[in-house]
Amino acid sequence: MTISIKLRSLLQRVKSICVLTGAGISAESGVATFRGVDGLWSKLKPEELANFDAFMRNPELVWEWYNYRRQIVHDVKPNPAHYALVRLEELVKEFTLVTQNVDNLHFRAGSKKVLELHGNIERSYCIDCGKFVENVEVTTEKKVPRCSSCNGLIRPDVVWFGEMLPEGVFEAATEAASQCELFLTIGTSAVVYPAAGLPMTARNQGAYIVEVNTEPTEISHTVNETLLGKAGEVLPQLITILEETRK
Ligand code: OAD
Repeated sequence: MTISIKLRSLLQRVKSICVLTGAGISAESGVATFRGVDGLWSKLKPEELANFDAFMRNPELVWEWYNYRRQIVHDVKPNPAHYALVRLEELVKEFTLVTQNVDNLHFRAGSKKVLELHGNIERSYCIDCGKFVENVEVTTEKKVPRCSSCNGLIRPDVVWFGEMLPEGVFEAATEAASQCELFLTIGTSAVVYPAAGLPMTARNQGAYIVEVNTEPTEISHTVNETLLGKAGEVLPQLITILEETRK
C-alpha cells in the first residue's frame, strides 16, 4: 500500500475530517461482515430476519438471531482501527465519525462524536410506547423481552430493511460530509444507500476522498485514492503522519 504525496501533505495540514465506517472496520475484532463468502448475508436471508414483518411474525426467531449477534459483539474488543479513529478525533479540530455499524465498538473504544446511521444493537426499545431499554439480557433462551411499563414487545434499536434512518442522524452526516476537507470511507462495500452516497456528497463539495478497504468496491473508481489493506494496519499509519506534524 502506498500513501500518495498529496494525501501525506493533506494529512499534515487538514483541519476537518469526516469518516464513514462499515462492517470491515470490525472484522479484525472478530465480527463478521455482511457480504462476501463468509458474510452474514451469505448464510441468512435478510428479508427473513431484519425487517419489521419478520419480527411480528416470529419475534422469538428474530431475538434468537440478535442475541447471537449481541453475544458476539459483547465478547469482542475494539481493534487498532477503532482506536486510531479515537486518536483522530483528538488530533483534528472538526471531526465527525459516521458509522453504519451497530456493534457499539466505536463508543467502547472511546470515540465521542459518533453518528450511528443504523442504530445500536446494545440498545432496544418498546414498539408500543417507544421507551428505550439499555440492558436487555443476552440469553440463549427463546424469550422475547417485554416492556416494563406497558408490556409491549421490545425490539433491538437497529434499522431494518424498509425502515427510515433515525431522525436527524443522516442530515447531520450529510452536513459533516459537505463541510469536510478529507473524507475517509473505511471497511464498507458502499452498496447500501443512503450511507453509500456520503462520499459523493463530500466529493461534490470539494473534499478529497480516501477509501480504506481490503479490496476494491463499487465506489473505488469515484474516490481520489484507495488504500488497499486492513483498516487496523492502514489507519495507524495515517495517524503517524498526522502526529508528526502536530507534536
Ligand atoms: P459489507 O459486509 O457490505 O462490507 C464490508 C467491507 O469491508 C467489504 O468491502 C470488505 O472488503 C471490507 N473489509 C473486510 N475486512 C476488512 C478489513 N480488515 N479492513 C478494511 N476493510 C475490510 O458491510 P457494510 O458496507 O458495512 O445494514 O454493509 C452496509 C450495511 O449493509 C450494513 O450496515 C447493514 C447491511 O445490510 C443494515 O443492517 C441496515
